[in-house]
Amino acid sequence: MITSAGHLVSLQELIETDPKTIIGEVHEQFTRETFGKPTWGIVSKYFDNLNPIPHHLHWKKWEVYDIHRYVNPGTHYSHYHTTAMGLYPWVTKDMLRDCLSRFGAPQGNDIRSLSPHVKVPVDQGGFCMPNGVLHSPTDLATHEVHVLMDEHFLAEDLTLDGAISVEGAFYACREQDYPKDKHGDWDYLVSIFDFEANQDLNFVLRNSRRPLRADKFCSEGVEAFWIVHGDFLGEQKCSILRLVLQPKAKTTLKFDSPCVFHVNRGMGLVGNMGVNFEKTLHLGQITHELGFITQQAADGGVLFQNAGKEPFVLTLDFPQNAHKVTPGI
Ligand SMILES: [Fe+2]
Repeated sequence: MITSAGHLVSLQELIETDPKTIIGEVHEQFTRETFGKPTWGIVSKYFDNLNPIPHHLHWKKWEVYDIHRYVNPGTHYSHYHTTAMGLYPWVTKDMLRDCLSRFGAPQGNDIRSLSPHVKVPVDQGGFCMPNGVLHSPTDLATHEVHVLMDEHFLAEDLTLDGAISVEGAFYACREQDYPKDKHGDWDYLVSIFDFEANQDLNFVLRNSRRPLRADKFCSEGVEAFWIVHGDFLGEQKCSILRLVLQPKAKTTLKFDSPCVFHVNRGMGLVGNMGVNFEKTLHLGQITHELGFITQQAADGGVLFQNAGKEPFVLTLDFPQNAHKVTPGI
């Protein structure tokens, strides 16, 4: 937020000043218990790598993806963008240990030859990636939401972007998840590796989320779809809602929880704030395509209005336990 005097105020400062108004009682309690202070419990980001990210896993971090057409214009429905997930069911502990022991070999350890590759769903709903499962997100622009922290083990040592050392592979592991004296100890890694989760035959089926029409947010000229919905890892984690307002359409919506929004296309109003999609972002430049809807605003109702000549498209990211009734359940 920028004050009338031109000072930049961070979301964290606003939250700490008045947690109940900004993030509400439910999220305040959750983040105090989880992070030791009132804060915003999710990260909403976009990444657009030239090449797929190296095959990796997170010991504790979960994440969800929303890969949509607005930031991937021109992607053909019959595209060949794939992503590797988990391990084939025939991979034994010895095979995984042998593979990891080849870390640093001239040809690389080739771990992705042990992983099924699946077609990336573009604009066909979201995908949930539980902690502990190998994955290597694609080269498409990806909207990702995850819990408020980051850590990873890089399992692939040779990528299109260069080689990764054993030291580099464990660099982002937290001590509480994977002890430093076990870095490079492949026997130990295989002993704690979650084969059951990685070799789930129904993994794609279980973790894909088809778009689900959100009738209560729809009206004339306004369509709403849950992109990520339902429970994940046994509870209500984050959820993603997409709103599409046709030219001249407007609506006022109430939500149980605060949320972050991104503008994906067009221009309009969110509350009394003018927002628009930015095709090109420059470091240090302030844009008007990302915003935060407070608990107070969510309780009172937020105006969404298309002020342009093309559809006004927004994506709303909700945190853990955001809904009194879990969408899709
Ligand atoms: Fe990841």
